Amino acid sequence: MDSTASTTIVVFLLLLPRLCSSAGDKIELGEQLLLGQTRASDGGAFVLGFFSPSNSTPERQYIGIWYNITDRTVVWVANREAPAIAAGRSIAPRLALTNDSNLVLSDADGRVLWSTNVTAGVADAAGRSTSPPVAELLNNGNLVIRSNGAILWQSFDHPTDTVIPEMKVQLDKRTRRGARLVSWKDAGGDPSPGSFSYGMDPETSLQLVMWNGSRPYWRTTVWTGYLTSGQYLAATGTTIYLDVVDNDDEIYVKLRVSDGASPTRYVMTSSGEFQLLGWDKSSSEWITFSSFPTHHCTTYGYCGPNGYCDITTGAAAACKCLDGFEPASGGEWSASRFSEGCRRKEAPPCGGGDGFLALPRMKVPDKFSTLVGNMTFDECAARCATNCSCEAYAHADLSSSSARGDIGRCLVWAGELIDMVMIGQTTWGRAGETLYLRVPAGSTSSRGRGNVVKIAVPILASALVLTCIFFVYFCKSRENRRKRESQKTLVPGSRNTSSELLEENPTQDLEFPSIRFSDIVAATDNFSKSCLIGRGGFGKVYKVTLENGQEVAIKRLSKDSDQGIEEFKNEAILIAKLQHRNLVRLLGCCTEGSEKLLIYEYLANKGLDAILFVMMMLMLFADGARKSLLDWPTRFGIIKGVARGLLYLHQDSRLTVIHRDLKASNILLDAEMRPKIADFGMAKIFGENQQKANTKRVVGTYGYIAPEYSTEGSFSVKSDVYSFGVLLLEIVSGIRISSTDIMEFPSLIVYAWSLWKEGKAKNLIDSSIAESSSLDEVQLCIHVGLLCVEDNPNSRPLMSSVVSILENGSTTFLAMPNQPAYFAQTTSEMDKMTDGSSRNTMTMTVLQGR
Ligand SMILES: *[C@@H]1O[C@H](CO)[C@@H](O)[C@H](O)[C@H]1NC(C)=O
Ligand SMILES: *[C@@H]1O[C@H](CO)[C@@H](O)[C@H](O)[C@H]1NC(C)=O
Ligand SMILES: *[C@@H]1O[C@H](CO)[C@@H](O)[C@H](O)[C@H]1NC(C)=O
Ligand SMILES: *[C@@H]1O[C@H](CO)[C@@H](O)[C@H](O)[C@H]1NC(C)=O
Ligand SMILES: *[C@@H]1O[C@H](CO)[C@@H](O)[C@H](O)[C@H]1NC(C)=O
Ligand SMILES: *[C@@H]1O[C@H](CO)[C@@H](O)[C@H](O)[C@H]1NC(C)=O
Ligand SMILES: *[C@@H]1O[C@H](CO)[C@@H](O)[C@H](O)[C@H]1NC(C)=O
Repeated sequence: MDSTASTTIVVFLLLLPRLCSSAGDKIELGEQLLLGQTRASDGGAFVLGFFSPSNSTPERQYIGIWYNITDRTVVWVANREAPAIAAGRSIAPRLALTNDSNLVLSDADGRVLWSTNVTAGVADAAGRSTSPPVAELLNNGNLVIRSNGAILWQSFDHPTDTVIPEMKVQLDKRTRRGARLVSWKDAGGDPSPGSFSYGMDPETSLQLVMWNGSRPYWRTTVWTGYLTSGQYLAATGTTIYLDVVDNDDEIYVKLRVSDGASPTRYVMTSSGEFQLLGWDKSSSEWITFSSFPTHHCTTYGYCGPNGYCDITTGAAAACKCLDGFEPASGGEWSASRFSEGCRRKEAPPCGGGDGFLALPRMKVPDKFSTLVGNMTFDECAARCATNCSCEAYAHADLSSSSARGDIGRCLVWAGELIDMVMIGQTTWGRAGETLYLRVPAGSTSSRGRGNVVKIAVPILASALVLTCIFFVYFCKSRENRRKRESQKTLVPGSRNTSSELLEENPTQDLEFPSIRFSDIVAATDNFSKSCLIGRGGFGKVYKVTLENGQEVAIKRLSKDSDQGIEEFKNEAILIAKLQHRNLVRLLGCCTEGSEKLLIYEYLANKGLDAILFVMMMLMLFADGARKSLLDWPTRFGIIKGVARGLLYLHQDSRLTVIHRDLKASNILLDAEMRPKIADFGMAKIFGENQQKANTKRVVGTYGYIAPEYSTEGSFSVKSDVYSFGVLLLEIVSGIRISSTDIMEFPSLIVYAWSLWKEGKAKNLIDSSIAESSSLDEVQLCIHVGLLCVEDNPNSRPLMSSVVSILENGSTTFLAMPNQPAYFAQTTSEMDKMTDGSSRNTMTMTVLQGR
């Protein structure tokens, strides 16, 4: 090509780059991709082409793959180390597929900037007649070179900083090599390799590590059987799965998402965060679902040898020494420099009855030896107990998860224990594993009472036994406050116990400050009315300010209620196990004689009912007050929060919990108007495969009780869904379910349904929010609410669908709600049952004679 011709082409390209865009998802043999041209995958999800970071001068050109969304997010870069530099007008980089089956990027002078380096295709070209190679951008974002039906090269094998669904983070077990994500040099501008990388740990292949340069910066927990595959529903309505495949050749993690999901990706950022993000179509922005490390305290080795980061306290995460250890250098430690870590107070003599202390839900330390083969828990424990240089061990039961039929995985540690985190209970249930730490035999007696709980837990230890243990433990161990973090169980011989039992031991989850009854009497001025802030199902609630200035709510169970003690135990055990931002937090408890007290976090805004309904009266005087408190966005936030809390109870916690008394007064609001579900006094726990249960004692609140529950005593997650539907309609309309006088309609549900049927759903909207409301969202809520209060429990959606619909915001696929038959017929009956006058919202018990 002579120089005149090439200049002409360049000028043409510079002037009209957009017109040159060519269709198709392929680059055929001999074809070229030029500046300004793109290839889009068949399906339109991804685009391949040249891009230039916005602030790059001189202009650098890279070949990349990005999502076809408004915000150009590059997920893969070819020539990240060798950009085509625009110098004057001589730039004319091109990407071409050569006859030896390679994609080659070259600049104007024909200099090769980047190549796929495939060698396989050459032999074919020389010998047999073959179909020509072709490069194709698939709709999952993978760029592949194919020849004769075989994939010769694919971009998924050469990740840059991003993992997208169907891509693997893999380690080859023979070569100990795997692809690593490498961050960009800086977030917006420079795709050249930055200092952070992320991939499978080549030493052990049992964990993933993030490196800053060559130094570990953060690491995941070690694989255990039950953690190998995870899934959860993200805020965009996408279900995200992480599949871990471990076979003889390789181990890999693969991201997978539900069908039709919006773009979802993991990215290793240039600032050292490994983030999971999802594209929110409605707001056209990326939402960060999670980001690691979560706290600087969890970065690699931050707390030094034998120290661990305690994240059970949330934002107040801090370094601590393992039990039996003390800061190696007290001064450094108190100055928040933890790198020297901790040392033993007393060396275990080894032999002659050393014990092992079980530390549950730990991210176990790094630098372990994996004892090869098929070990049972007892074998693993014995190997450590008989070797004096073994400081700790951990065992994972793989019998149900290993493809190769291994029974168990045994890790042992000698020397320093580095990089530990106490995880505690998490919203996704089990996390971490139990670390067994060698301790001197005599160390038990030197510990204060309550510091170590000795328990030999029979397999299904009765709730009663556990309850007693934790009452003794928590109400009498005031001095334990400092060591709240370490709920530990001493395992004397470790022979007749197993890790599963300890995992399931509910007392491990409880961490309370202990409060003396006499202190509470003093603080409440002997339960004076001035401290009273409410009445719950089984007692009164007081607001108290503790010595340390913390405000708490104290529920004093009424002495005369028969069920009191059962409900009390039930609630304490349950809430202590459940932790979710939409569930109220139990902080402690106390019993003395017949007094039973529960101590909760204090929530500034009390119950939803107080604000939703009481404000209605205020409205007559000052309309503005109510509007500003509970405008539509706030209400919608409350609805979604309650839905997420309920979803957690139903399926995302380790248990299936049926609340059985969901209602406006049991939704508490914090200072930011975030909802928290309260009052678990009547909650029931279901077994793993249990769908529903029957009871003769129907408990709940009129109006919120599902028909099948009040007539047949049959309850399930769907009876909670019913209560949720009622609550939803109340929040939208501002009308109490117990209101008797709604136009000529017998109930709020019938009223809502009638309006809906006539296409006048918006008339249901509380007039005080008419201005702030989005009609689409309100109609979606009413629609969902009506589906939730269907008479037939099977027609009601599960909370997972409710959450997904509310987050996704589309009514297209929703069934039409049926007429609520039950309430039309039985309203008069209900009148009788509630004794006419008392259509109140107090929880009631109905004894059902069946
Ligand atoms: C990008 O997506 C839109 C719709 O989402 C589609 O109409 C368009 O054709 C896509 N672009 C390409 C280049 O395929
Ligand atoms: C491949 O292309 C090169 C130059 O572009 C040419 O010299 C060679 O003969 C070609 N090989 C085949 C097998 O077509
Ligand atoms: C291709 O091979 C050359 C020379 O062996 C090497 O410098 C280059 O990094 C390789 N490119 C890729 C994309 O692997
Ligand atoms: C990463 O390492 C570099 C060089 O050692 C250091 O300057 C930088 O602070 C580290 N980054 C973080 C986030 O720790
Ligand atoms: C979200 O809505 C779209 C239609 O807008 C639908 O195709 C998709 O299945 C929905 N996703 C979920 C998780 O409900
Ligand atoms: C004891 O443990 C150490 C460290 O793991 C190891 O090097 C040594 O071989 C073990 N000794 C025996 C007898 O197993
Ligand atoms: C582990 O033991 C089980 C049962 O004893 C056996 O089926 C399996 O093949 C063993 N696995 C290995 C890797 O030895």
